Amino acid sequence: MAGPSRRAAQRARTLRGKLQRHAHLYYVCDAPEIEDAEYDRLFRELQDLEAAHPELATADSPTRRVGAPVEGGFLPAKHVQAMLSLANIMPPEEPEAFERPHPELEAFFQRLDKQAGREGLLGLEFVAEPKFDGLAISLLYEDGVLMRAATRGDGVTGEDVTANVRTIHSVPLRLLGKAPPRLLEVRGEVYISRDGFRRLNEQAALTDAPGARKPFANPRNAAAGSLRQKDPKVTAERPLDIYCYAVGAMEDGPSVASQDAMLGLLRGWGFRVCDLAQVVTGGEGCFAYYLARCRERAELPYEIDGVVYKINDLALQRSLGQDARAPHWAVAHKFPAQKALAVLEDVGFQVGRTGVVTPVAHLSAVEVGGVMVRRATLHNIKFIDDKGLRIGDKVEVRRAGDVIPKIVRVESKAPSRRARRIRLPDACPVCGSKTQRDEDMLYCTGGLTCDAQVRSSLVHFVSRDAMDIEDMGKEHIAWLVEQGALRRVDDFYRLTEETVRELLERKAQLQRQKDSDRKLELGGRMVRCLQNAEPVAWSELVEALGIKHCRDGENMARLASAFESPAEFLAAGLPAFKELGLPEEAAKSAAQFVRDYPTVESLPKAILAQWLVAIPKVGETTARALAKRFGSLEALRAATLEDLNAMPELNARAKDSVAEFLKMPADAQWEAFSRKSYMELSAQRELPKKIIANIKATRKAELHRLIYALGIREVGRVVARALAHEFENMEKLMEADEERLLEISDIGPVTARNIVEFFKSNQKVVENLLKEVQPQAPVAAATDLSGQTYVLTGTFEAFKRSEAQQALENLGAKAATTVGPKTDAVIAGANPGAAKINKAEELGIRVLDEAELRKLLAAGP
Ligand code: IVH
Repeated sequence: MAGPSRRAAQRARTLRGKLQRHAHLYYVCDAPEIEDAEYDRLFRELQDLEAAHPELATADSPTRRVGAPVEGGFLPAKHVQAMLSLANIMPPEEPEAFERPHPELEAFFQRLDKQAGREGLLGLEFVAEPKFDGLAISLLYEDGVLMRAATRGDGVTGEDVTANVRTIHSVPLRLLGKAPPRLLEVRGEVYISRDGFRRLNEQAALTDAPGARKPFANPRNAAAGSLRQKDPKVTAERPLDIYCYAVGAMEDGPSVASQDAMLGLLRGWGFRVCDLAQVVTGGEGCFAYYLARCRERAELPYEIDGVVYKINDLALQRSLGQDARAPHWAVAHKFPAQKALAVLEDVGFQVGRTGVVTPVAHLSAVEVGGVMVRRATLHNIKFIDDKGLRIGDKVEVRRAGDVIPKIVRVESKAPSRRARRIRLPDACPVCGSKTQRDEDMLYCTGGLTCDAQVRSSLVHFVSRDAMDIEDMGKEHIAWLVEQGALRRVDDFYRLTEETVRELLERKAQLQRQKDSDRKLELGGRMVRCLQNAEPVAWSELVEALGIKHCRDGENMARLASAFESPAEFLAAGLPAFKELGLPEEAAKSAAQFVRDYPTVESLPKAILAQWLVAIPKVGETTARALAKRFGSLEALRAATLEDLNAMPELNARAKDSVAEFLKMPADAQWEAFSRKSYMELSAQRELPKKIIANIKATRKAELHRLIYALGIREVGRVVARALAHEFENMEKLMEADEERLLEISDIGPVTARNIVEFFKSNQKVVENLLKEVQPQAPVAAATDLSGQTYVLTGTFEAFKRSEAQQALENLGAKAATTVGPKTDAVIAGANPGAAKINKAEELGIRVLDEAELRKLLAAGP
């Protein structure tokens, strides 16, 4: 076959250029220059060209945004430059103080003053911009082409979500402009706008597939869920967008002196940069910016939870440096949480992983920032004492982002005759063991005899950053614990496929019996009543009808009590339903229902439609159509292929599935109805095998995962990594005493004590675990500096010596203070110690400068 002609190749290039320009104008600048139809025409022309000559289709072609599904899990992706997080400044709690300068912000400026070593920051410039409430992403471009997109992960390594990020139209697949940097790592936030979020959840409510997706709780969850899809086609349907705000690493790029200029460069390369980013001056400028954004917050098309200030001068940024978590030259200033008043109706108690018993407020239902809240945390028992809290009091509830709402203060006390004292439980609400008060905390003394502690430690063990055992969710764990198959973390490794299968099936069976059998039975009885024209109690029938959005107890109760008979219900309309206090969408669904089924005689069809969703590939809409067309199960059974073919509502897949279903004997059909769907069942069939395989895969987990998975108090992911690096195996870690642990930076006295105590009281469990799991010591990758010993001397431009030391240690190297035969290199800044340099020369040890040090660090993880 002849290759593409020069003209075809040229045309493809032109088309790609045009499409890229117009997509940028449309998606990034919001200023299209051509009609959609014209864009589509150009797009199709390119598609056709590429189809005829596949070799013309480059990776950055606009036709290639949506690729093939990801096989297996997302791959780990190491960031070139670590992705840091930001220190937070919280606004004052009291509303009166809000418009006055915030003490935490002042303190931040004072610290800066000191660190930057300048008198007063009056004239200092910052770039201020919104803090977008989405998901951090890192985009890696090589020679101008998007090579990889990764989530933040633990800051060092994220997940490779390139295929999904490519579907976001405002992410350039190729940089605009002529001379792109050799390497460019761009940082930004992927988010979903309020509008997009609303549409997405409306779609969720309309989708009638049996496995229909649940609505998302908030735009951030929606964005996160969308980015973690295995199939980019799904992601492409989601209204994801991006704002880019920083550069992580750049090689052979233009030189820039300020953050602001950097944003300009990003814009020029085609990235979407927020128009609200602004250069402001001094603390006053920052605060004015903050107040302005806070006022307009509700009107912005996307959610923000604060603003971010970054020092504009990049050289100053570098000299201020950073610590393991956050840069010293930037800070997030958060908005006040959304709040409301509610009555404290009761207090329950929950038991956490470490045995802490925490009080949970049960509240009169109240809306806080658009979300209904009935439960809120009361922090700890000291809070109850401090505030003199009693049941019946009116309290203020706050919600910040999607964290659990909190009670922050008592608005007004209940009249004393109605107030009830809050009694702290003497016994653990879960296991009944005695509780013990230790200063401000209440503990369950049951330890691993307490199911709550057992369950949550097991859930932590399997979690993503710990052993990452997929498919073994909270509910399965709770059930396996209840059934006595799981107790300690090493039990995971003794589970067999048979046990898991047997137990999960028993659970599914119980569930089915609970749900569908009852519904089906109820429905069957109702149909018989209606068909024999017997009177039916409306209150019972309402459940069998399964009216959309009215299936929860509350709405069903409203409908049940408002009408006397089915006929009366059918005579009502939207205004009447709204008057009952049904929420908008429930009232609309009820109104739609009475339009769909206007007579008592038609009601059996509604019940039938509910059953028919048990047929695979048949959603609610299709089921309704089938019920409407055939009226009864008997009639449907008698249906021929032609009958089905004549139904335009049936797509090919649904039709095949219905035909298949109709061939089944009647009792198998009933069986299917009572099991709801055999699709669900077949997914279940594979599950035990998958779970066991997933467990097995963790027998050689990395050491830091295993350490983190143990759930030692204060030992998070970062500390776990530091421990893994330091000790290289669990046995050595178990032997370490507090003194030894304190030698490790990142570890303070409290953590050290926790670690020692943990191993003292859990030695047996860990030993048993080590019989099952052979954790892998951190491997020395090519860029890993483990085993190397460096000596630092002099002062450095971009970091303090202690930071450089820390950074080297994070890569596994040792930072020593004296030069000796074991030294691999001396790193000399300005004014190095002459003795050290001489010694190095004497021993023939390399002397590196700051630039080489930077290279060393950049090469690491
Ligand atoms: S700058 C080293 N700018 O907030 C600077 N972050 O709490 C790192 N975020 O992980 C971030 N809007 O996901 C920056 N305008 C903004 C931001 C922003 C949202 C997120 C980002 C980061 C987190 C830190």
